Order: sequence, then structure tokens, then C-alpha cells
Amino acid sequence: MEVLISISAATLAYIDDFLPEDDALISARRNAAEVGGAAPVSPLTGGTLRFLAAAIGARSVVEIGTGCGTSGIWLLRGMRPGAVLTTVDSEPEHQRLARAAYLAAGFPPSRYRLIGGLALEVLPRLADNAYDMVFCDADRLELSAYLASALRLLRPGGIVLFNSVLPGSAGTERLPTDAEAAAAAEVREQVRADERLTQLLLPIGNGLLVAARQGGSSS
Ligand SMILES: C[S@@+](CC[C@H](N)C(=O)[O-])C[C@H]1O[C@@H](n2cnc3c(N)ncnc32)[C@H](O)[C@@H]1O
Repeated sequence: MEVLISISAATLAYIDDFLPEDDALISARRNAAEVGGAAPVSPLTGGTLRFLAAAIGARSVVEIGTGCGTSGIWLLRGMRPGAVLTTVDSEPEHQRLARAAYLAAGFPPSRYRLIGGLALEVLPRLADNAYDMVFCDADRLELSAYLASALRLLRPGGIVLFNSVLPGSAGTERLPTDAEAAAAAEVREQVRADERLTQLLLPIGNGLLVAARQGGSSS
């Protein structure tokens, strides 16, 4: 028997408002809306990033798709004191705004490394087995390549996350193209089938795909 679970709009609004954004996040979100092409993560997605970074005591995180800094602030707030966020984006203006957003949120430059360039050109320069988390939120046609990079970059027990991997548009600026929807379907199946990973697809934002690389202390 099919069971339909329905959550009321009021409940969804309550969940989204559970972690209200402060001035630094509101300002980063406003900048993203003005500049375009840098749709920020939802507060619930941000809260999830912060929670996971804190839960695993993240010391080093790679973000693919800096945008104007919203997800980076959430990540930095969950990471250990002194931990470093390495974040990649091809748009210098987005990274300029992200840098200002991190400073406004109280993080000194020693806490982040902003690398400008195309993800698939930058990622090969990052060290193997060196990162606790990899958050993928850039080109929606490159998700499989990001997964391959993440599997190389992550230490055992590390976590890879893909934002917006479902067909709709919640929290995004537009519907995915057919090619983007196909790329998302492909990475969902790759993650699901990969026996090196412990997987979870969460109904957060437009679908947050999370997987832990096995081999950590608890696996
Ligand atoms: C959805 S936005 C990221 C939003 C950000 N994670 C946040 O929550 O604020 C996607 C970003 O990826 C960048 N981007 C798109 N394609 C890219 C590529 N091939 N390499 C690097 N960055 C890319 C865009 O310039 C944009 O800033």
C-alpha cells in the first residue's frame, strides 16, 4: 500500500525558520540575489552542513562552488577552531563577495583558502586523503567528476555532499535542464551503488545527497 506523507506548509516554514540567519548570512544571501548565478543554500541545508562539520570535528573542508559565501559561513561555523575551508569558484566577483562575507561573519583570512578557477582544473591540485568533507555545489553537469575527485580527496570516514540533486527547483534559481537532470540522476545512482560509501538522500533544499567514505573509526 502506498503511504503518502504530507507535511503542512506551516510545519515546513517552522523547520526552515528553526535556525534563523543572522546579519552576515542575510547579507551574503542578498549579495547572491543581486549578482545572480550563485543561488545560496537554504538555511536548513546550511544548518545541515554546520551540523555535519561539527559532528565529525572537521579540520579541512573542500567546497566546490563558493558562491557569495552563504554555505561557507555555515561550514566555518561547524568546523573546529582553526580549521581551514578550501573553496573553489570560477567567478572572481562571487569570491570577492564571499571573502567579504567571511570577514563580516568574524572569520579571519587564515580560516579559508579561496581558489579561483574551474573546478575540474583546480581539484587535481588538492591533496589525496586530506579532507574531512567535500561539498559539491557548482556545475550541475560535472557531478560525477566531483564524486571521483571527492573519493580521492576524502580521508576514510570523510563525507561528500551534493546540493540540489532532485529534479525540482526548490532553493535554486531555475529548473535543471534535461542534461543537468540526467547528470543528477547519474550521480544519485553512482553514490547509491558505491560499496565504499554509506549513503543518504535527504529531502532538504532540492535534495541533499550525503555519503560517508567507509574506513573511518566507526566502520
Ligand atoms: C549554486 S552557486 C554556489 C552557492 C554557494 N554554495 C552558497 O551556498 O552560497 C554555484 C557556484 O558555482 C560556480 N561555478 C559554476 N560552475 C563552476 C565550475 N565549473 N567551476 C568552479 N565554479 C563553478 C558559480 O560561479 C557559482 O558561484
